[in-house]
Amino acid sequence: MSARLVRIADDPGSDPAVAEAAALLRSGELVAFPTETVYGLGGDALSPRAVERIFEAKGRPADNPLIVHVADADALGLVAASVPDAALRLAAAFWPGPLTLVLPAREEARRAAARGLPTVAVRVPAHPVALALLRAAGIPVAAPSANVSGRPSPTRASDVAADLGDRIPLILDGGPCAVGVESTVLDLSGTRPAILRPGAVSAAEIGAVLGAEPPIAGEADLLRRSPGTRHRHYSPRARVVLLGPAVSAAAALRMASRLGRWGYVGSRPELLSASGAAAIPAGAGLARELYARLRDLDEAGVDAIVADAVPEEGLGVALMDRLRRAASARVLDDREADALR
Ligand code: TXA
Ligand code: MG
Repeated sequence: MSARLVRIADDPGSDPAVAEAAALLRSGELVAFPTETVYGLGGDALSPRAVERIFEAKGRPADNPLIVHVADADALGLVAASVPDAALRLAAAFWPGPLTLVLPAREEARRAAARGLPTVAVRVPAHPVALALLRAAGIPVAAPSANVSGRPSPTRASDVAADLGDRIPLILDGGPCAVGVESTVLDLSGTRPAILRPGAVSAAEIGAVLGAEPPIAGEADLLRRSPGTRHRHYSPRARVVLLGPAVSAAAALRMASRLGRWGYVGSRPELLSASGAAAIPAGAGLARELYARLRDLDEAGVDAIVADAVPEEGLGVALMDRLRRAASARVLDDREADALR
């Protein structure tokens, strides 16, 4: 199989490729489509067979449940057994948008997208192509990021084609993703809300709606609530070294020179000029470009990627979460930089 990649123009609601994608989804096939966060690999969320196909195509660990996408909050009842008031208030504030809510699951969702868990994760994505597709399909659509499991998530249609082009029939191209990191996952199924994965919607923004800021779950809590998070994520093939702010440029350059061919993601002038990299703007700009930059450096065949740590505020919380998971080493000062081999 070789995927057709179709660019969707201005009016996705009347695009024949979107109608075709919806028909494929309804018949149990898989389709990749853009969301505002990353591209998703979609399949019928209530069909165990379609969900199985998603796991096969991605090589995804079997215990990692899928996020279900719906066209609006009215469709929550198709997958959730109950919808707490907090979910409705958050939906009104942030949907369509990059916030995923974990709710008690209906049996049909539990048997398919939720992989047997008593809960189901669900969101309404903000991309016009995703919304048009969900409306046309009229079914809840399970969609993990459309990458081979473990690799950086795809933020361009070409990234999807590189990973899954030989395994799915159709990729809808909606241009580069505006957010660039995956949605915030908020667990509302327990006694207290908790963030299972930081994303573009911050704890403070959620707190402003709920009246109390939800904590970000620690590793032990995560393993209990979200089994899939223990697997390796977001990793390019190259070795990623995360550079703390206290490391001097001189020590960073000495270190990099021992790592073979290296690339750089950050904004220090000395490292930019030594690596030949272009600077990436901080904050939202970095979020938008991070995965594409990691993929491009892999494509260029570097041995190592040196990346600057970013301040953990706002989007920086999500960015550092992804950078830590991508990194095989972290150096916090010049001594550690000089010791790294
Ligand atoms: O932005 C996004 O969320 C993208 C786009 C395509 O919507 N999707 C995405 O899906 O990132 P995926 O499968 O790559 O990540 C799903 C995350 C995983 O961390 C998984 O463990 C968690 O959501 N998750 C899914 N269902 C869950 C559940 N019932 N309970 C706890 N965590 C869940
Ligand atoms: Mg993923």
